[in-house]
Amino acid sequence: MTERAGFVAVVLAAGQGTRMKSALPKVLHPLCGRELVAWPVHAALDAGATRVVVVVGHGREAVAATLAARFPAHTADGRVTTAVQERQLGTGDAVRSALPALEGVSEDDYVVVLCGDTPLLRHEALSALLEATRGADGARSKCAMLTGVVDDPTGYGRVVRDEGGRIVAIREHKDASAAERAIREMNPGVYAVEKRFLARSIAALDAKNAQGELYLTDVVARAAQEDAAGVAGRAWPMEDLHGVNDRYDLARAETLLRERLNRALAKSGVTLRDPSTTYVDADVVIAADVTLEPGVVLRGRTQIGAGARLDVGCVLEDVLVEAGARLKPYTVATDSVIGERAQVGPFSHLRPKSTLGPDAHVGNFVETKATSLGARSKANHLAYLGDGVIGEDVNVGAGTIFCNYDGFQKHTTRLLDGAFIGSDSQLVAPVTVGRGAYVATGTTVTKDVPDDALALSRTKQENKLGYAARLRTTMKAKKDAALAAKAAAAAKPDGE
Ligand code: UD1
Ligand code: CA
Repeated sequence: MTERAGFVAVVLAAGQGTRMKSALPKVLHPLCGRELVAWPVHAALDAGATRVVVVVGHGREAVAATLAARFPAHTADGRVTTAVQERQLGTGDAVRSALPALEGVSEDDYVVVLCGDTPLLRHEALSALLEATRGADGARSKCAMLTGVVDDPTGYGRVVRDEGGRIVAIREHKDASAAERAIREMNPGVYAVEKRFLARSIAALDAKNAQGELYLTDVVARAAQEDAAGVAGRAWPMEDLHGVNDRYDLARAETLLRERLNRALAKSGVTLRDPSTTYVDADVVIAADVTLEPGVVLRGRTQIGAGARLDVGCVLEDVLVEAGARLKPYTVATDSVIGERAQVGPFSHLRPKSTLGPDAHVGNFVETKATSLGARSKANHLAYLGDGVIGEDVNVGAGTIFCNYDGFQKHTTRLLDGAFIGSDSQLVAPVTVGRGAYVATGTTVTKDVPDDALALSRTKQENKLGYAARLRTTMKAKKDAALAAKAAAAAKPDGE
């Protein structure tokens, strides 16, 4: 390992991203659960950046708020900060806007500049870039850049080299001659520049180019002229370098990232029955021996414990699934906890703040919201359980409804340990069913049920003997008479 001095990173994220055709700033478009801008910030931090300055402009408040939410500790301790670029005058001007925020950083340190729209970049690429500043002969280049080779470089700046193969300039697509446009070596927009040299050459930029902008890329040309050590170019695979300019680029980047995330999961001991239909966000954590069947979608901060099995079509967001749980097909859950060995689904809906204890069961067409079920409690069929506190070993029968809302307020239903709720019961909250109490089928519970009591609110059944048979006879006679009348009317000749 070569020894490396500290470095700071500047992430350019002030542009609107016109080609996205979106009201949302480009860098806030999500990609595998993280906003675009979060990806290069993660890469810089993972590579060891002592500070990351994000240049913001379009939607600056929203971008800053996103960074604070995504990097709470780093924004609090000042390791991740923002600098405002008032007007978007080009990438060179964007870096200029960041320079005041770099006060105190050693003039000898490298500033790694990267774009907010290159989400595929891995921290390994940044480490390689920094290592490239030190040449084989020990000479230290003031400027190093990554380069990639691509079949269709349209839109990218081209890497222009001299006969000796030394980098002499970056030519923007719009400024390039036909010969330069044929160059397939592109500029991914990732540089490491010695701070002293960066500040000096940024100050000297002009806007004499096709776009009338201050091009950061002109810093490269200046280094080529002034630095005896030359510009260090570090070739890097294109799969890390694609930029996102429009929504098709975004979709392709997402496919590549998803493949990368799925591969890492599979290597870490997760069975993905069909990786091509498995969608797992970047911040999801999955233990070994978990099985994900086709069509599983895991979002946000979801965590899955060892040995859990998620069957076809489960969609979870911010859910903690504990070890050995079994989610049957088409379970949908948000902001909830599913306990050890619990069973859910098929077709269950756990809305926010649902908590299932160990070995609890929630079956088909059961909806829960802000409800906890204790260990071994079951609600296996067709129920709405909202604002409930359910103890252990409780059985909730089919068709049970917690009537939690009176049109103004939500109220709590409590079912204490061992309670048994017969099918098709309504519990009008606030109400408590005591330990071991029994609610008879079809009961509307409007007042608390004491421990071990039976609650029964339905009217007594009465059987009228022979009544159905008599009813059938009268009904049939009526129907036959009506049919006969209709036939007689149809048989009459016209005009009569
Ligand atoms: C830039 C490079 C190009 C390179 C490409 C890689 C320049 C002049 N060109 O072109 O050589 O191949 O990136 O993707 O640098 N930004 C600001 N403020 C501005 C302008 C841009 O913050 O005033 C930010 C954008 O938000 C974006 C990044 O800089 O994240 C790149 O800007 P963009 O306009 O996409 O540059 P490209 O035309 O792609
Ligand atoms: Ca770009």
